Amino acid sequence: MNNRYETIDNTEAVISTAPVSFISYGNSFLFELQSYFDEHFTKDTHFVILDDNNTHNYCLNLLTKIIDNYCVDIITIEACENDKTIDTVISIWNKLLEYHCDRKTVMLLLGGGIVCDTGGFAASTFKRGISYISIPTTLLAQTDAAWGGKNGVNFNNIKNQIGLFNNPNLIAVNTSFLKTLPERQLKSGMAEIIKHAIIGDKSIFKYIEQTPKDDEYYKKLLIKSIAVKKSVIDVDFKENGKRKILNFGHTIGHAIEAAMLNKITHGEAIRLGMIATIKISSEYFDFDINKYSKYIKIIEDNNSPTINKDDISLIMKIMKDDKKNYNGNINFVLMKDIEDMVIDVPVSEDKIIKSLEFLTDYANK
Ligand SMILES: NC(=O)c1ccc[n+]([C@@H]2O[C@H](COP(=O)([O-])OP(=O)(O)OC[C@H]3O[C@@H](n4cnc5c(N)ncnc54)[C@H](O)[C@@H]3O)[C@@H](O)[C@H]2O)c1
Repeated sequence: MNNRYETIDNTEAVISTAPVSFISYGNSFLFELQSYFDEHFTKDTHFVILDDNNTHNYCLNLLTKIIDNYCVDIITIEACENDKTIDTVISIWNKLLEYHCDRKTVMLLLGGGIVCDTGGFAASTFKRGISYISIPTTLLAQTDAAWGGKNGVNFNNIKNQIGLFNNPNLIAVNTSFLKTLPERQLKSGMAEIIKHAIIGDKSIFKYIEQTPKDDEYYKKLLIKSIAVKKSVIDVDFKENGKRKILNFGHTIGHAIEAAMLNKITHGEAIRLGMIATIKISSEYFDFDINKYSKYIKIIEDNNSPTINKDDISLIMKIMKDDKKNYNGNINFVLMKDIEDMVIDVPVSEDKIIKSLEFLTDYANK
């Protein structure tokens, strides 16, 4: 794929062939979005904005200048992992019918990973697929969930069990949205940035520790972090091989997230999953885990929820049902070293349980 880096209105923008995308803030975001709309849509284009109860209050007003010129309907959902279900998708489909949407209607997703995953699936399946644009508003969605065309919902308490791969037409990242994002959600998003640093670019660690954390801070981090994700999805969109490295920490992380539904954020669960996976890796590849204590310090978040010994059996049960299992094995992305991942490693239940026990001991140390 052909990635170009361009400068528009003093803002470094990342532009790729499919989908089109840019990272900016303030007025330059509106300028770039308006230019895209002018080029691709007419005044008759019917937009349906999907937002959530928070982005409706905090983010929608930033788009008013642009959307006021078009015919727009709005659907607002609850952003909560519990509601990332087919029932929510059905309620979106019903609204799309109520608003007389046709195949030319364009959905505009304004929210975090829940809005992007659920809305992307609703758009990709309504009338065999209508166009959609992602405007991610959480750090996590800006660096990860909005990219790579994976969308879908949870099913039977298993994460992302139903879904498909389909890219939006445009991904427009505006770091100004982060100003209203609670600190806990910023930390949650940082987990996926740390993952990108581990799997593909350790220079990101230098940026993570930098202060002050202003708009420029997140923009610089996002450009580097997104570059890692794009370098993977551009060569393996459907996750047949290399893309699996993006699941580092997720085999355990997803199971923890499902076991502690709505008590833990996605990023908090992935942080735990990454620490447990480094523990498994240390045994599998026979290295001293203390070699990575500097990185584990950056991954860990002492103020976030953790697991107890009592949670382990449920986490194991959920992990065994994960869709990424193959031939009855629980497969992992393990780490030989920073930036050196090994995919499809079957790990025994014993070793996984040991790593979960390590997590509980670690949290109580
Ligand atoms: N498709 C993918 O590739 C992919 C990758 C990673 C994660 N995910 C999914 O993403 C989901 C998590 O996404 P998330 O962490 O963005 O959570 P989220 O969408 O639940 O958003 C977190 C909270 O922040 C609020 N919010 C969003 N933007 C805001 C803003 N600018 N100001 C104030 N509040 C705001 C939301 O209303 C919500 O309460 C999980 O379901 C995860 O599985 C998907």
